[in-house]
Amino acid sequence: MCGIVGYVGRRGATDLLLSGLRRLEYRGYDSAGLAVLRDHALRIEKTAGKVQALADRVFETWSPKERSEAHMGIAHTRWATHGAPTQANAHPHTDGSGEIALVHNGIIENYAEIRARLEAEGHRFRSETDTESLAHLIGACYEGDLLQAVCAALKHVQGTLGIAVISAREPDRMVVARRGSPVVIGLGDGETIVASDAAAVVAHTRQCVFLEDDDVAVVTANGAELRNVHNVPVAREVSRIDWDASAAEKGGFAHFMLKEIFEQPDALRNSLRGRLDAGQGTAVLSGLNLSAREMASVDRVVLVGCGTSLHSAMVGDYYFEDLADIPADVEQAAEFRYRNPILSPQNLVVAISQSGETADTLAAVREAKQKGALIAGICNVVGSTIAREAGRGVYLHAGPEIGVASTKAFTAQLTVLLMMALKFGRCRRLSRQKGLDLCAELERIPELVSAVLARNDQIAAVARRFADVRDFFYIGRGYLYPVAMEGALKLKEISYIHAEGYHAAELKHGPIALLDRQVPVVALLNDVPGREKTMSNAQECRARHSPVIAVITEGDHEAAALGDACIEMPRASARVAPIPTTVALQLLAYHVAQARGCPIDQPRNLAKSVTVE
Ligand code: G6P
Repeated sequence: MCGIVGYVGRRGATDLLLSGLRRLEYRGYDSAGLAVLRDHALRIEKTAGKVQALADRVFETWSPKERSEAHMGIAHTRWATHGAPTQANAHPHTDGSGEIALVHNGIIENYAEIRARLEAEGHRFRSETDTESLAHLIGACYEGDLLQAVCAALKHVQGTLGIAVISAREPDRMVVARRGSPVVIGLGDGETIVASDAAAVVAHTRQCVFLEDDDVAVVTANGAELRNVHNVPVAREVSRIDWDASAAEKGGFAHFMLKEIFEQPDALRNSLRGRLDAGQGTAVLSGLNLSAREMASVDRVVLVGCGTSLHSAMVGDYYFEDLADIPADVEQAAEFRYRNPILSPQNLVVAISQSGETADTLAAVREAKQKGALIAGICNVVGSTIAREAGRGVYLHAGPEIGVASTKAFTAQLTVLLMMALKFGRCRRLSRQKGLDLCAELERIPELVSAVLARNDQIAAVARRFADVRDFFYIGRGYLYPVAMEGALKLKEISYIHAEGYHAAELKHGPIALLDRQVPVVALLNDVPGREKTMSNAQECRARHSPVIAVITEGDHEAAALGDACIEMPRASARVAPIPTTVALQLLAYHVAQARGCPIDQPRNLAKSVTVE
């Protein structure tokens, strides 16, 4: 998804902006650009494709002075929404005079109307983007003060935006604003860095200010002055970001995704840290901010999310019903607000999002709020929009996830959901003894994951045998049904092999027609309830000549006999088994993609964080 970087300070802006864009590459994008100010003139460079292509153009065509003597600039990576990923559509966009440049994340919903009006007034547009209409509008409002022009323009636009704007006439200050799309201001020593994501800021400073919706800020080398769109000063806290720049590096692994898969024992330890009460057999989740009485009176839980987070919602559904005795439903976040969800103040809507910025999940939070339900967020990114708007919730503490395909966030989501269900259960009917048993199971999760990681080489060998096929099926039941779907999603995301996750019993209702020698089936045959039935389903696949990759509990020779290849799991309870099993499927997908030479961390067409509907 799009990324913004801005710089004003004593150092050369150009190189800093390019390195900032590199830190945002993980978000997924298809064109890039930058604008810097030198000698009261803007210099703009844009290109379709990667940041490296932009850097090459800058190094080939700009003089060393042009690069080093500009001390303010803005830059952008664009993930196309309105108009193809071309050079003309790449940001920055300029106004009619060419003196104001703008980078923008989000969507201007009434851009067509603004564009038609401005074109009728004589403005000439050069791109197909919604963003350019805002650049021209700011230009049309400009009367010598960029802050006032931005505030005036924002009164006329609908939609979402995070923006950074500079004017050739105001060489020492930049204006940034937020409405629905994140903007963070990093306060350095004699320099200020602006970005859509703290990852581009932490290499320079840990002191950050997060803008709230409808905040506008004037940014100079000495800091930032915040106002609202009515130009009234507002105060925002300065937060300290603890993620260091090296946490965002690959740390010796070939890909961020592999690094993040291997980080899972630590990430899950961090998720669990300080949250298990071994005396009471419950979980301590202070961010939930609900009294025991409020938890006891919740009569329904609705879990919402997108993509991988939707799969964890599906597992969470089982957890809440089994452990807390609360009726639970899963809703695709994208559908939630369009189906008139029936909600009451006794209903708890749990919004699950790694990034905390996914547009559909955020919209579901707002809909639930409108309808008076209780809301809790499960997010990884601290201070993200969903985390803030939900008002209560549990952070994953899994550390930054850079690989586009989500791995450690998913297993941390399951861990947090299990703790939440435990906590609700203990306020209701779950006995202390059952709570204690569950605490012991939760504590074992990191070592179970380590045991799977120790089998990386075996899993890689299995992956190489099946790397050339065109279709895959994954089957499971119970808690392992959503895991089958997540395993299939991982494979299609990074290897481009068509893969489907199915309930083991549903396979017979159609997809079995597709099975033959060329279509392997990954069967989740862990020794948990449902194993025998899934074994029968695996037999059905074998009878259609499909190679079966059997995921089994170690020592289970009967289940192993069904597999053309086997992946062994450490023994785990039914509730916890989804976590190590997912880790095995992540490795399987990773090694298949690796064998096929795919760009694993930035798969084609995918974005890390999807902030449009
Ligand atoms: C994108 C990512 C997925 C992710 C989904 C939801 O599609 O590529 O990996 O699962 O968004 O993201 P969230 O940040 O809300 O969990």
